[in-house]
Amino acid sequence: MSHDRIASTFDEWVQSGQAEGLQAGHSDVVAQVIPQMGIRAGMQTLDLGCGTGWATRILAAAAPGAGAIGIDASAEMIAKAESLHDLTSRARYERGTFEAIDYKDGKFDRVFSMEALYYAVDLDQSISEIHRVLKPTGVAHVIVNRFSESRHSEGWANTVGLDMAYLSVDEWQARFAGVGFAVETERVLDSRGPGDEASFEPDAHCPDFQTRVELHEAGSLWIRATKPE
Ligand SMILES: C[S@@+](CC[C@H](N)C(=O)[O-])C[C@H]1O[C@@H](n2cnc3c(N)ncnc32)[C@H](O)[C@@H]1O
Repeated sequence: MSHDRIASTFDEWVQSGQAEGLQAGHSDVVAQVIPQMGIRAGMQTLDLGCGTGWATRILAAAAPGAGAIGIDASAEMIAKAESLHDLTSRARYERGTFEAIDYKDGKFDRVFSMEALYYAVDLDQSISEIHRVLKPTGVAHVIVNRFSESRHSEGWANTVGLDMAYLSVDEWQARFAGVGFAVETERVLDSRGPGDEASFEPDAHCPDFQTRVELHEAGSLWIRATKPE
């Protein structure tokens, strides 16, 4: 899988309007995680796979004088993020890849990523890059909805048409521990619940209501990876 293929797929998500649903789908879990990231005044956060930048802006507003930079392989996602930008926000957005993060060692206090890291072309290289750009004692907060304990997420690679890592919770933990992180994991459930059957509408990710219920019950996997002193 190439970065060009990833970029063109997500460029298309912007052109077709599909990208506009990302915030609604992910916002509840993100709203549970960001307040627990320990972002304090002046801290800098990197948002990997920022998409339209909505979470980047929340991260930048998490504490006085804090800032956030979102990076994404898709030029259309970055353009969309810039079009939605509020000039009072201390967020900015750059085109870039997880595998070669264009920032110096130890620049960031926090790394955040929502529903993006399993698309990595080279997952181990991406996790090494996260480790490199974090300060000692800095923490990466990575959330993924595709992991093998959430069995209905397996088919998403076919639906989206991209290669995607499909790892168990233990395997995710081992990948981060492998580059020297201290790792904890937790499941986060969307507090809105699975919705009601009468208003359920099938889509490519979720063909029927029972699948929706089981995806909801499996939740999101929140990986907290701390770089040692
Ligand atoms: C499903 S979207 C999630 C966007 C955003 N985090 C959100 O929750 O709305 C995944 C994003 O990751 C980006 N992405 C995937 N693989 C990437 C890589 N290897 N390097 C940089 N960006 C990548 C895609 O371009 C896409 O915008």
